[in-house]
Amino acid sequence: MSHPGEGLDGAIVGIDLGTTNSVIASVTGRGLEVIRDRHGNALVPSVVAFVPNGEVLVGRRARDRAIIDPLNTIHSAKRIIGRPCGAPDTQRVISQLPYIVSPGQNEEPIVRTRAGDESVTQISARVLAHLRAGAQAHLGRPVTGCVVTVPANFSDGQREATRRAAVAAGMHVLRILNEPTAAAIALGMGAPGSQRRVGVFDMGGGTFDFTVLAVHDGLFEVLATGGEPYLGGDDFDHVLADRFARSFLETMRIDVNADPEKRARVVRAAEQAKIALSSQGSIDGVVPSIAHGVGGMEIDMPYSLSRADFEALIGKQIDRALDTTNQVLAQAGLTPAHIDEVALVGGSTLIPAVRRRVRNLFGREPNTSVNPLEAVACGAAYHAHALWAASQMPPTGSEAGSPGGVGLLMDVTSHSLGIATYGDNVEVLIDKNTTIPCEGTRMFSTVLDNQREVSIRVCQGEARRFSQSEFLGELHLSNLRPAPRGETQVAVEFIVDANGILQVSARDATTGQLAQAQLAVRGLSRTS
Ligand SMILES: Nc1ncnc2c1ncn2[C@@H]1O[C@H](COP(=O)(O)OP(=O)(O)OP(=O)(O)O)[C@@H](O)[C@H]1O
Ligand SMILES: [Mg+2]
Repeated sequence: MSHPGEGLDGAIVGIDLGTTNSVIASVTGRGLEVIRDRHGNALVPSVVAFVPNGEVLVGRRARDRAIIDPLNTIHSAKRIIGRPCGAPDTQRVISQLPYIVSPGQNEEPIVRTRAGDESVTQISARVLAHLRAGAQAHLGRPVTGCVVTVPANFSDGQREATRRAAVAAGMHVLRILNEPTAAAIALGMGAPGSQRRVGVFDMGGGTFDFTVLAVHDGLFEVLATGGEPYLGGDDFDHVLADRFARSFLETMRIDVNADPEKRARVVRAAEQAKIALSSQGSIDGVVPSIAHGVGGMEIDMPYSLSRADFEALIGKQIDRALDTTNQVLAQAGLTPAHIDEVALVGGSTLIPAVRRRVRNLFGREPNTSVNPLEAVACGAAYHAHALWAASQMPPTGSEAGSPGGVGLLMDVTSHSLGIATYGDNVEVLIDKNTTIPCEGTRMFSTVLDNQREVSIRVCQGEARRFSQSEFLGELHLSNLRPAPRGETQVAVEFIVDANGILQVSARDATTGQLAQAQLAVRGLSRTS
Protein backbone atom coordinates (compact mmCIF):
# COMPACT_ATOMS: atom_id res chain seq x y z
CA MET A 1 0.00 0.00 0.00
CA SER A 2 1.08 3.56 -0.49
CA HIS A 3 2.68 5.47 2.33
CA PRO A 4 0.99 8.55 3.73
CA GLY A 5 1.54 11.44 1.37
CA GLU A 6 2.81 9.24 -1.44
CA GLY A 7 1.20 9.90 -4.77
CA LEU A 8 -0.46 13.03 -3.47
CA ASP A 9 1.77 15.59 -5.14
CA GLY A 10 -0.03 15.57 -8.51
CA ALA A 11 -3.67 15.28 -9.50
CA ILE A 12 -5.75 12.68 -7.70
CA VAL A 13 -8.45 10.80 -9.59
CA GLY A 14 -11.26 8.31 -9.10
CA ILE A 15 -11.57 5.48 -11.62
CA ASP A 16 -14.49 3.17 -12.35
CA LEU A 17 -12.75 0.29 -14.11
CA GLY A 18 -15.74 -1.44 -15.69
CA THR A 19 -16.15 -4.71 -17.55
CA THR A 20 -17.33 -2.94 -20.67
CA ASN A 21 -16.60 0.74 -20.01
CA SER A 22 -14.44 2.77 -17.68
CA VAL A 23 -14.80 6.34 -16.44
CA ILE A 24 -12.28 8.67 -14.78
CA ALA A 25 -13.09 11.76 -12.74
CA SER A 26 -11.32 14.21 -10.47
CA VAL A 27 -12.19 16.84 -7.90
CA THR A 28 -10.21 19.96 -8.76
CA GLY A 29 -10.31 23.61 -7.76
CA ARG A 30 -13.22 23.88 -10.21
CA GLY A 31 -15.16 21.11 -8.47
CA LEU A 32 -15.98 17.63 -9.74
CA GLU A 33 -14.82 17.02 -13.29
CA VAL A 34 -15.69 13.93 -15.28
CA ILE A 35 -13.08 13.56 -18.00
CA ARG A 36 -14.72 13.45 -21.45
CA ASP A 37 -13.52 13.13 -25.02
CA ARG A 38 -14.20 15.88 -27.56
CA HIS A 39 -17.62 14.38 -28.33
CA GLY A 40 -18.59 14.62 -24.69
CA ASN A 41 -18.25 10.88 -24.00
CA ALA A 42 -17.08 9.96 -20.53
CA LEU A 43 -17.25 6.23 -21.26
CA VAL A 44 -14.01 4.68 -22.41
CA PRO A 45 -14.46 1.09 -23.62
CA SER A 46 -12.28 -1.20 -21.47
CA VAL A 47 -10.75 -2.72 -24.59
CA VAL A 48 -7.17 -3.11 -25.79
CA ALA A 49 -6.45 -3.98 -29.44
CA PHE A 50 -3.14 -5.20 -30.85
CA VAL A 51 -2.98 -4.02 -34.46
CA PRO A 52 -0.87 -5.70 -37.20
CA ASN A 53 1.35 -2.61 -37.61
CA GLY A 54 2.45 -2.98 -34.00
CA GLU A 55 0.24 -0.24 -32.63
CA VAL A 56 -1.71 -0.88 -29.44
CA LEU A 57 -5.11 0.83 -29.32
CA VAL A 58 -7.16 1.39 -26.19
CA GLY A 59 -10.77 2.52 -25.79
CA ARG A 60 -13.19 3.37 -28.56
CA ARG A 61 -10.76 2.73 -31.42
CA ALA A 62 -9.87 -0.61 -29.88
CA ARG A 63 -13.51 -1.60 -29.51
CA ASP A 64 -14.12 -0.98 -33.19
CA ARG A 65 -11.64 -3.72 -34.00
CA ALA A 66 -13.54 -6.41 -32.07
CA ILE A 67 -15.51 -7.39 -35.14
CA ILE A 68 -12.62 -7.62 -37.58
CA ASP A 69 -9.93 -9.00 -35.29
CA PRO A 70 -11.48 -10.78 -32.30
CA LEU A 71 -8.31 -12.74 -31.44
CA ASN A 72 -6.33 -9.55 -30.84
CA THR A 73 -9.04 -7.35 -29.37
CA ILE A 74 -9.02 -7.90 -25.64
CA HIS A 75 -12.18 -6.94 -23.80
CA SER A 76 -13.88 -8.05 -20.55
CA ALA A 77 -10.49 -8.40 -18.78
CA LYS A 78 -12.35 -7.64 -15.55
CA ARG A 79 -14.09 -11.00 -15.84
CA ILE A 80 -10.82 -12.88 -15.37
CA ILE A 81 -8.46 -10.47 -13.61
CA GLY A 82 -7.05 -11.91 -10.40
CA ARG A 83 -8.75 -15.26 -10.85
CA PRO A 84 -6.90 -18.58 -11.02
CA CYS A 85 -6.87 -19.69 -14.64
CA GLY A 86 -7.55 -23.33 -13.91
CA ALA A 87 -10.58 -22.85 -11.64
CA PRO A 88 -13.79 -24.20 -13.21
CA ASP A 89 -15.51 -20.80 -12.93
CA THR A 90 -12.64 -19.07 -14.68
CA GLN A 91 -12.51 -21.75 -17.36
CA ARG A 92 -16.20 -21.22 -18.05
CA VAL A 93 -15.59 -17.49 -18.53
CA ILE A 94 -12.54 -18.10 -20.71
CA SER A 95 -14.47 -20.51 -22.94
CA GLN A 96 -16.79 -17.63 -23.84
CA LEU A 97 -14.05 -15.19 -24.71
CA PRO A 98 -13.04 -14.96 -28.36
CA TYR A 99 -9.34 -14.52 -27.61
CA ILE A 100 -6.86 -17.04 -26.20
CA VAL A 101 -6.17 -17.18 -22.47
CA SER A 102 -3.73 -19.62 -20.88
CA PRO A 103 -2.34 -20.08 -17.37
CA GLY A 104 0.90 -18.34 -16.47
CA GLN A 105 2.96 -18.35 -13.31
CA ASN A 106 0.78 -18.92 -10.26
CA GLU A 107 -2.22 -19.65 -12.50
CA GLU A 108 -2.39 -16.03 -13.57
CA PRO A 109 -4.45 -15.66 -16.77
CA ILE A 110 -2.25 -14.73 -19.72
CA VAL A 111 -3.66 -13.41 -22.98
CA ARG A 112 -2.09 -14.46 -26.27
CA THR A 113 -1.90 -11.65 -28.81
CA ARG A 114 -0.01 -11.05 -32.03
CA ALA A 115 2.31 -8.83 -30.01
CA GLY A 116 3.11 -11.67 -27.63
CA ASP A 117 1.78 -12.84 -24.29
CA GLU A 118 0.47 -10.37 -21.78
CA SER A 119 -1.05 -10.87 -18.35
CA VAL A 120 -4.62 -9.77 -17.81
CA THR A 121 -3.29 -7.41 -15.14
CA GLN A 122 -1.14 -5.76 -17.82
CA ILE A 123 -4.17 -5.46 -20.10
CA SER A 124 -6.07 -3.65 -17.36
CA ALA A 125 -2.96 -1.55 -16.71
CA ARG A 126 -3.12 -0.42 -20.34
CA VAL A 127 -6.74 0.64 -19.91
CA LEU A 128 -5.85 2.49 -16.71
CA ALA A 129 -2.82 4.15 -18.32
CA HIS A 130 -5.03 5.31 -21.20
CA LEU A 131 -7.55 6.80 -18.75
CA ARG A 132 -4.73 8.42 -16.83
CA ALA A 133 -3.26 9.95 -20.00
CA GLY A 134 -6.66 11.39 -20.93
CA ALA A 135 -7.03 12.90 -17.47
CA GLN A 136 -3.52 14.35 -17.57
CA ALA A 137 -4.22 16.02 -20.91
CA HIS A 138 -7.46 17.44 -19.55
CA LEU A 139 -6.14 18.53 -16.17
CA GLY A 140 -2.81 19.76 -17.49
CA ARG A 141 -0.75 18.03 -14.82
CA PRO A 142 0.44 14.57 -13.92
CA VAL A 143 -1.99 12.20 -12.24
CA THR A 144 -0.18 10.53 -9.35
CA GLY A 145 -2.81 9.05 -7.08
CA CYS A 146 -6.09 7.23 -7.56
CA VAL A 147 -8.99 5.44 -5.99
CA VAL A 148 -10.10 2.50 -8.13
CA THR A 149 -13.45 0.82 -7.67
CA VAL A 150 -14.24 -2.90 -7.79
CA PRO A 151 -17.45 -4.91 -7.33
CA ALA A 152 -18.27 -5.53 -3.67
CA ASN A 153 -17.97 -9.27 -4.24
CA PHE A 154 -14.44 -9.12 -5.66
CA SER A 155 -12.12 -11.57 -3.93
CA ASP A 156 -8.78 -10.63 -2.43
CA GLY A 157 -6.94 -11.85 -5.50
CA GLN A 158 -9.14 -9.77 -7.79
CA ARG A 159 -8.62 -6.64 -5.65
CA GLU A 160 -4.88 -7.16 -5.46
CA ALA A 161 -4.59 -7.68 -9.21
CA THR A 162 -6.63 -4.50 -9.82
CA ARG A 163 -4.37 -2.59 -7.46
CA ARG A 164 -1.28 -3.88 -9.27
CA ALA A 165 -2.74 -2.84 -12.59
CA ALA A 166 -3.12 0.73 -11.31
CA VAL A 167 0.43 0.71 -9.95
CA ALA A 168 1.69 -0.56 -13.31
CA ALA A 169 -0.18 2.36 -14.91
CA GLY A 170 1.99 4.71 -12.85
CA MET A 171 -0.36 5.63 -10.02
CA HIS A 172 -0.36 5.21 -6.29
CA VAL A 173 -3.50 3.51 -5.15
CA LEU A 174 -4.97 5.43 -2.24
CA ARG A 175 -7.80 2.97 -1.85
CA ILE A 176 -9.63 0.16 -3.58
CA LEU A 177 -13.26 1.12 -3.07
CA ASN A 178 -16.42 -0.94 -3.53
CA GLU A 179 -18.51 0.27 -6.46
CA PRO A 180 -21.82 0.57 -4.56
CA THR A 181 -20.14 2.56 -1.81
CA ALA A 182 -18.72 4.92 -4.43
CA ALA A 183 -22.15 5.32 -5.98
CA ALA A 184 -23.71 6.13 -2.61
CA ILE A 185 -21.02 8.75 -2.00
CA ALA A 186 -21.73 10.35 -5.40
CA LEU A 187 -25.44 10.52 -4.70
CA GLY A 188 -24.73 12.38 -1.46
CA MET A 189 -26.12 9.58 0.62
CA GLY A 190 -23.41 9.95 3.23
CA ALA A 191 -24.35 13.45 4.28
CA PRO A 192 -23.64 14.08 7.96
CA GLY A 193 -26.64 13.63 10.19
CA SER A 194 -28.39 11.23 7.88
CA GLN A 195 -29.23 7.74 8.93
CA ARG A 196 -30.54 5.55 6.18
CA ARG A 197 -30.51 2.20 4.52
CA VAL A 198 -29.55 2.49 0.90
CA GLY A 199 -30.00 -0.08 -1.85
CA VAL A 200 -27.65 0.21 -4.80
CA PHE A 201 -29.04 -1.46 -7.93
CA ASP A 202 -26.19 -1.71 -10.44
CA MET A 203 -26.96 -3.13 -13.85
CA GLY A 204 -24.11 -2.50 -16.27
CA GLY A 205 -22.96 -4.16 -19.45
CA GLY A 206 -21.96 -7.56 -18.21
CA THR A 207 -22.96 -7.93 -14.61
CA PHE A 208 -25.70 -7.19 -12.14
CA ASP A 209 -25.14 -6.37 -8.46
CA PHE A 210 -27.38 -5.34 -5.63
CA THR A 211 -25.92 -4.03 -2.39
CA VAL A 212 -27.50 -2.83 0.83
CA LEU A 213 -25.57 -0.15 2.70
CA ALA A 214 -26.29 1.34 6.09
CA VAL A 215 -25.42 5.01 6.10
CA HIS A 216 -25.07 6.94 9.32
CA ASP A 217 -23.21 10.19 9.81
CA GLY A 218 -20.93 9.83 6.85
CA LEU A 219 -20.31 6.18 7.62
CA PHE A 220 -20.99 3.53 5.01
CA GLU A 221 -21.46 -0.04 6.01
CA VAL A 222 -22.13 -2.79 3.48
CA LEU A 223 -24.84 -4.94 5.06
CA ALA A 224 -25.08 -7.43 2.23
CA THR A 225 -24.18 -7.73 -1.40
CA GLY A 226 -24.85 -10.18 -4.18
CA GLY A 227 -25.30 -10.41 -7.86
CA GLU A 228 -25.15 -12.29 -11.09
CA PRO A 229 -21.94 -12.29 -13.08
CA TYR A 230 -23.79 -12.66 -16.39
CA LEU A 231 -26.73 -10.36 -16.38
CA GLY A 232 -26.76 -6.97 -18.00
CA GLY A 233 -26.81 -4.98 -21.18
CA ASP A 234 -24.81 -7.55 -23.16
CA ASP A 235 -27.59 -10.11 -22.62
CA PHE A 236 -30.19 -7.65 -23.83
CA ASP A 237 -28.11 -7.02 -26.95
CA HIS A 238 -27.94 -10.74 -27.68
CA VAL A 239 -31.63 -11.33 -27.04
CA LEU A 240 -32.39 -8.51 -29.45
CA ALA A 241 -29.83 -9.71 -32.01
CA ASP A 242 -31.41 -13.19 -31.86
CA ARG A 243 -34.77 -11.67 -32.67
CA PHE A 244 -33.39 -9.66 -35.61
CA ALA A 245 -31.42 -12.64 -36.93
CA ARG A 246 -34.39 -14.99 -36.70
CA SER A 247 -36.73 -12.78 -38.64
CA PHE A 248 -34.05 -12.23 -41.29
CA LEU A 249 -33.58 -15.99 -41.55
CA GLU A 250 -37.34 -16.48 -41.92
CA THR A 251 -37.81 -13.84 -44.60
CA MET A 252 -34.51 -14.06 -46.51
CA ARG A 253 -33.24 -17.57 -45.69
CA ILE A 254 -29.90 -16.04 -44.71
CA ASP A 255 -28.31 -17.11 -41.43
CA VAL A 256 -26.19 -14.23 -40.11
CA ASN A 257 -25.26 -16.25 -37.02
CA ALA A 258 -23.11 -18.58 -39.09
CA ASP A 259 -20.49 -15.86 -39.51
CA PRO A 260 -19.05 -14.34 -36.31
CA GLU A 261 -18.29 -11.05 -38.03
CA LYS A 262 -21.88 -10.71 -39.26
CA ARG A 263 -23.24 -11.74 -35.90
CA ALA A 264 -21.08 -9.09 -34.22
CA ARG A 265 -22.43 -6.42 -36.55
CA VAL A 266 -26.00 -7.44 -35.74
CA VAL A 267 -25.22 -7.35 -32.01
CA ARG A 268 -23.79 -3.85 -32.43
CA ALA A 269 -26.96 -2.74 -34.22
CA ALA A 270 -29.04 -4.38 -31.50
CA GLU A 271 -27.22 -2.35 -28.85
CA GLN A 272 -27.92 0.87 -30.73
CA ALA A 273 -31.57 -0.11 -31.09
CA LYS A 274 -31.77 -0.91 -27.38
CA ILE A 275 -30.31 2.46 -26.40
CA ALA A 276 -32.69 4.27 -28.78
CA LEU A 277 -35.64 2.43 -27.22
CA SER A 278 -34.78 3.98 -23.84
CA SER A 279 -35.90 7.34 -25.22
CA GLN A 280 -38.31 6.46 -28.04
CA GLY A 281 -41.28 4.16 -28.46
CA SER A 282 -40.07 2.24 -31.51
CA ILE A 283 -37.09 1.80 -33.75
CA ASP A 284 -36.52 1.02 -37.45
CA GLY A 285 -33.14 0.52 -39.03
CA VAL A 286 -30.93 -1.61 -41.25
CA VAL A 287 -27.62 -3.36 -40.90
CA PRO A 288 -26.10 -2.43 -44.28
CA SER A 289 -24.61 -4.97 -46.71
CA ILE A 290 -24.90 -7.92 -44.38
CA ALA A 291 -24.98 -10.42 -47.26
CA HIS A 292 -24.56 -10.74 -51.01
CA GLY A 293 -27.27 -11.97 -53.33
CA VAL A 294 -27.19 -13.14 -56.93
CA GLY A 295 -24.66 -11.26 -59.01
CA GLY A 296 -22.98 -9.93 -55.89
CA MET A 297 -25.88 -7.63 -55.06
CA GLU A 298 -25.58 -6.29 -51.51
CA ILE A 299 -28.38 -7.14 -49.14
CA ASP A 300 -29.23 -5.02 -46.08
CA MET A 301 -30.79 -6.50 -43.00
CA PRO A 302 -33.79 -4.45 -41.90
CA TYR A 303 -35.09 -4.51 -38.34
CA SER A 304 -37.83 -2.86 -36.37
CA LEU A 305 -39.07 -3.17 -32.84
CA SER A 306 -41.35 -1.39 -30.40
CA ARG A 307 -40.39 -0.61 -26.85
CA ALA A 308 -43.20 -2.88 -25.63
CA ASP A 309 -41.80 -5.80 -27.64
CA PHE A 310 -38.31 -5.10 -26.30
CA GLU A 311 -39.62 -5.05 -22.74
CA ALA A 312 -41.32 -8.39 -23.29
CA LEU A 313 -38.07 -9.84 -24.66
CA ILE A 314 -36.01 -8.88 -21.61
CA GLY A 315 -38.72 -9.45 -19.00
CA LYS A 316 -37.17 -12.70 -17.76
CA GLN A 317 -33.78 -11.07 -17.24
CA ILE A 318 -35.33 -8.26 -15.22
CA ASP A 319 -37.22 -10.85 -13.16
CA ARG A 320 -33.90 -12.53 -12.36
CA ALA A 321 -32.35 -9.24 -11.23
CA LEU A 322 -35.32 -8.57 -8.96
CA ASP A 323 -35.16 -12.11 -7.53
CA THR A 324 -31.49 -11.56 -6.72
CA THR A 325 -32.35 -8.21 -5.13
CA ASN A 326 -34.89 -9.89 -2.86
CA GLN A 327 -32.36 -12.57 -1.93
CA VAL A 328 -29.74 -10.00 -0.96
CA LEU A 329 -32.32 -8.14 1.12
CA ALA A 330 -33.26 -11.40 2.83
CA GLN A 331 -29.57 -12.06 3.61
CA ALA A 332 -29.53 -8.79 5.51
CA GLY A 333 -32.82 -9.71 7.20
CA LEU A 334 -34.62 -6.95 5.32
CA THR A 335 -37.51 -6.45 2.94
CA PRO A 336 -37.90 -3.75 0.26
CA ALA A 337 -39.90 -1.67 2.73
CA HIS A 338 -36.83 -1.31 4.96
CA ILE A 339 -34.90 0.54 2.25
CA ASP A 340 -35.00 4.32 2.59
CA GLU A 341 -33.31 5.17 -0.66
CA VAL A 342 -32.54 3.34 -3.89
CA ALA A 343 -29.65 4.28 -6.15
CA LEU A 344 -29.61 3.30 -9.82
CA VAL A 345 -26.16 2.64 -11.23
CA GLY A 346 -24.98 1.26 -14.57
CA GLY A 347 -26.06 1.94 -18.14
CA SER A 348 -28.83 -0.65 -18.20
CA THR A 349 -30.76 1.22 -15.50
CA LEU A 350 -31.48 3.82 -18.20
CA ILE A 351 -33.97 1.31 -19.63
CA PRO A 352 -37.44 2.57 -18.63
CA ALA A 353 -38.71 -0.95 -17.86
CA VAL A 354 -35.83 -1.54 -15.43
CA ARG A 355 -36.58 1.73 -13.63
CA ARG A 356 -40.27 0.94 -13.47
CA ARG A 357 -39.74 -2.52 -12.04
CA VAL A 358 -37.28 -1.21 -9.41
CA ARG A 359 -39.69 1.56 -8.47
CA ASN A 360 -42.52 -0.95 -8.09
CA LEU A 361 -40.43 -3.30 -5.98
CA PHE A 362 -39.38 -0.61 -3.52
CA GLY A 363 -42.52 1.50 -3.72
CA ARG A 364 -40.46 4.64 -4.18
CA GLU A 365 -38.80 6.70 -6.88
CA PRO A 366 -35.12 5.71 -7.26
CA ASN A 367 -32.44 8.39 -6.90
CA THR A 368 -31.10 9.24 -10.34
CA SER A 369 -29.60 12.63 -9.51
CA VAL A 370 -26.23 11.55 -10.94
CA ASN A 371 -25.88 9.92 -14.37
CA PRO A 372 -25.93 6.17 -13.62
CA LEU A 373 -23.06 5.64 -16.04
CA GLU A 374 -20.82 8.09 -14.16
CA ALA A 375 -21.89 7.79 -10.52
CA VAL A 376 -19.25 5.23 -9.51
CA ALA A 377 -16.35 7.27 -10.94
CA CYS A 378 -17.73 10.44 -9.35
CA GLY A 379 -17.91 8.78 -5.93
CA ALA A 380 -14.38 7.45 -6.35
CA ALA A 381 -13.17 10.96 -7.23
CA TYR A 382 -14.87 12.47 -4.16
CA HIS A 383 -13.33 9.81 -1.99
CA ALA A 384 -9.89 10.26 -3.54
CA HIS A 385 -10.16 13.99 -2.90
CA ALA A 386 -11.22 13.38 0.70
CA LEU A 387 -8.26 11.08 1.27
CA TRP A 388 -6.00 13.73 -0.20
CA ALA A 389 -7.56 16.46 1.97
CA ALA A 390 -7.17 14.30 5.07
CA SER A 391 -3.48 13.82 4.29
CA GLN A 392 -3.05 17.60 4.24
CA MET A 393 -4.45 17.97 7.76
CA PRO A 394 -3.23 16.75 11.12
CA PRO A 395 -5.40 13.84 12.25
CA THR A 396 -8.38 15.04 14.25
CA GLY A 397 -9.90 11.74 15.20
CA SER A 398 -13.27 12.70 13.79
CA GLU A 399 -13.74 12.94 10.08
CA ALA A 400 -17.44 12.34 9.92
CA GLY A 401 -18.08 15.60 8.15
CA SER A 402 -15.48 15.19 5.44
CA PRO A 403 -16.71 14.66 1.90
CA GLY A 404 -16.40 11.06 0.92
CA GLY A 405 -16.29 9.87 4.50
CA VAL A 406 -12.53 9.32 4.74
CA GLY A 407 -11.45 6.46 6.88
CA LEU A 408 -15.02 5.79 7.80
CA LEU A 409 -15.95 3.56 4.95
CA MET A 410 -16.98 0.26 6.37
CA ASP A 411 -17.14 -2.52 3.86
CA VAL A 412 -17.66 -6.20 4.42
CA THR A 413 -15.97 -9.37 3.25
CA SER A 414 -17.77 -10.74 0.24
CA HIS A 415 -17.06 -14.42 1.03
CA SER A 416 -16.29 -16.48 4.09
CA LEU A 417 -12.55 -17.08 4.40
CA GLY A 418 -11.21 -20.24 5.94
CA ILE A 419 -8.80 -23.12 5.76
CA ALA A 420 -9.09 -26.79 4.89
CA THR A 421 -9.24 -29.15 7.84
CA TYR A 422 -9.56 -32.90 8.24
CA GLY A 423 -11.94 -34.72 5.89
CA ASP A 424 -12.67 -32.00 3.32
CA ASN A 425 -14.06 -29.70 5.99
CA VAL A 426 -13.48 -25.98 6.09
CA GLU A 427 -12.83 -24.03 9.27
CA VAL A 428 -14.00 -20.46 8.73
CA LEU A 429 -11.76 -17.75 10.22
CA ILE A 430 -13.67 -14.78 8.87
CA ASP A 431 -17.37 -14.93 8.09
CA LYS A 432 -18.96 -13.54 4.96
CA ASN A 433 -20.21 -9.98 5.42
CA THR A 434 -17.77 -9.21 8.27
CA THR A 435 -16.95 -5.50 8.40
CA ILE A 436 -13.40 -4.80 7.21
CA PRO A 437 -10.66 -4.25 8.22
CA CYS A 438 -10.92 -7.42 10.27
CA GLU A 439 -8.94 -10.36 11.47
CA GLY A 440 -9.50 -13.91 12.59
CA THR A 441 -7.25 -16.33 14.43
CA ARG A 442 -7.61 -20.05 15.11
CA MET A 443 -5.38 -22.56 16.84
CA PHE A 444 -4.75 -25.91 15.22
CA SER A 445 -2.80 -28.88 16.52
CA THR A 446 -0.70 -31.45 14.75
CA VAL A 447 -2.35 -34.76 13.86
CA LEU A 448 0.78 -36.94 13.58
CA ASP A 449 3.53 -37.85 16.02
CA ASN A 450 6.72 -35.90 15.34
CA GLN A 451 5.02 -33.92 12.61
CA ARG A 452 7.60 -31.46 11.25
CA GLU A 453 5.46 -29.62 8.76
CA VAL A 454 1.92 -28.42 8.22
CA SER A 455 0.25 -27.18 5.04
CA ILE A 456 -2.44 -24.60 5.41
CA ARG A 457 -4.79 -24.45 2.47
CA VAL A 458 -6.78 -21.23 2.29
CA CYS A 459 -10.12 -20.97 0.56
CA GLN A 460 -13.17 -18.79 0.26
CA GLY A 461 -16.85 -19.52 -0.19
CA GLU A 462 -19.87 -20.69 1.71
CA ALA A 463 -19.73 -24.42 0.93
CA ARG A 464 -17.95 -25.52 4.14
CA ARG A 465 -16.49 -28.28 1.97
CA PHE A 466 -12.97 -27.61 0.75
CA SER A 467 -13.52 -29.41 -2.54
CA GLN A 468 -16.44 -27.09 -3.28
CA SER A 469 -14.70 -23.86 -2.24
CA GLU A 470 -12.52 -21.51 -4.22
CA PHE A 471 -8.90 -22.34 -3.44
CA LEU A 472 -6.93 -19.15 -2.75
CA GLY A 473 -3.53 -20.45 -1.89
CA GLU A 474 -1.43 -22.54 0.39
CA LEU A 475 1.23 -21.87 2.95
CA HIS A 476 3.70 -24.26 4.51
CA LEU A 477 5.03 -24.10 8.00
CA SER A 478 8.08 -26.27 8.44
CA ASN A 479 10.71 -27.02 11.11
CA LEU A 480 8.11 -27.72 13.77
CA ARG A 481 9.57 -29.12 16.98
CA PRO A 482 9.20 -32.95 17.05
CA ALA A 483 6.44 -33.74 19.53
CA PRO A 484 3.59 -36.20 20.11
CA ARG A 485 0.55 -35.50 17.98
CA GLY A 486 -1.73 -32.80 19.30
CA GLU A 487 1.01 -31.16 21.29
CA THR A 488 2.25 -28.69 18.71
CA GLN A 489 -0.15 -25.80 18.28
CA VAL A 490 -0.21 -23.67 15.19
CA ALA A 491 -1.87 -20.28 15.26
CA VAL A 492 -3.25 -19.19 11.90
CA GLU A 493 -4.11 -15.55 11.46
CA PHE A 494 -6.08 -13.89 8.69
CA ILE A 495 -6.00 -10.13 8.28
CA VAL A 496 -8.20 -8.38 5.76
CA ASP A 497 -7.10 -4.79 5.27
CA ALA A 498 -9.22 -1.76 4.38
CA ASN A 499 -8.87 -2.63 0.71
CA GLY A 500 -10.25 -6.10 1.26
CA ILE A 501 -6.92 -7.79 0.66
CA LEU A 502 -6.16 -10.91 2.70
CA GLN A 503 -2.90 -11.63 4.43
CA VAL A 504 -2.38 -15.01 6.05
CA SER A 505 0.24 -15.92 8.60
CA ALA A 506 0.98 -19.04 10.62
CA ARG A 507 2.98 -19.38 13.80
CA ASP A 508 4.20 -22.29 15.89
CA ALA A 509 2.43 -21.28 19.06
CA THR A 510 3.88 -24.06 21.21
CA THR A 511 7.46 -22.89 21.06
CA GLY A 512 6.51 -19.27 20.65
CA GLN A 513 8.79 -19.29 17.65
CA LEU A 514 7.68 -17.37 14.62
CA ALA A 515 7.91 -19.26 11.40
CA GLN A 516 8.02 -17.61 8.04
CA ALA A 517 5.17 -18.53 5.79
CA GLN A 518 4.16 -17.04 2.53
CA LEU A 519 0.82 -17.24 0.80
CA ALA A 520 0.80 -17.72 -2.93
CA VAL A 521 -2.51 -16.31 -4.00
CA ARG A 522 -3.57 -18.14 -7.12
CA GLY A 523 -4.59 -16.03 -10.06
CA LEU A 524 -1.87 -13.53 -9.25
CA SER A 525 1.72 -13.49 -10.26
CA ARG A 526 4.04 -12.51 -7.44
CA THR A 527 6.37 -10.77 -9.82
CA SER A 528 3.94 -8.70 -11.87
N1 LIG B 1 -29.54 4.80 -22.74
C1 LIG B 1 -29.30 3.51 -22.54
N2 LIG B 1 -30.32 2.61 -22.51
C2 LIG B 1 -30.09 1.31 -22.32
N3 LIG B 1 -28.89 0.77 -22.13
C3 LIG B 1 -27.83 1.61 -22.14
C4 LIG B 1 -27.98 3.01 -22.33
N4 LIG B 1 -26.75 3.57 -22.29
C5 LIG B 1 -25.88 2.58 -22.06
N5 LIG B 1 -26.52 1.40 -21.99
C6 LIG B 1 -25.94 0.07 -21.78
O1 LIG B 1 -25.23 0.07 -20.57
C7 LIG B 1 -24.20 -0.92 -20.62
C8 LIG B 1 -22.92 -0.34 -20.12
O2 LIG B 1 -23.12 0.01 -18.80
P1 LIG B 1 -21.90 0.35 -17.81
O3 LIG B 1 -20.97 1.27 -18.50
O4 LIG B 1 -22.52 0.78 -16.55
O5 LIG B 1 -21.26 -1.09 -17.71
P2 LIG B 1 -19.90 -1.50 -16.98
O6 LIG B 1 -19.78 -0.78 -15.70
O7 LIG B 1 -18.76 -1.41 -17.92
O8 LIG B 1 -20.15 -3.01 -16.78
P3 LIG B 1 -20.21 -3.81 -15.44
O9 LIG B 1 -20.92 -2.95 -14.44
O10 LIG B 1 -20.97 -5.03 -15.83
O11 LIG B 1 -18.79 -4.04 -15.06
C9 LIG B 1 -24.10 -1.37 -22.07
O12 LIG B 1 -24.74 -2.63 -22.20
C10 LIG B 1 -24.89 -0.29 -22.80
O13 LIG B 1 -25.49 -0.79 -23.99
MG1 LIG C 1 -20.07 -0.79 -13.64
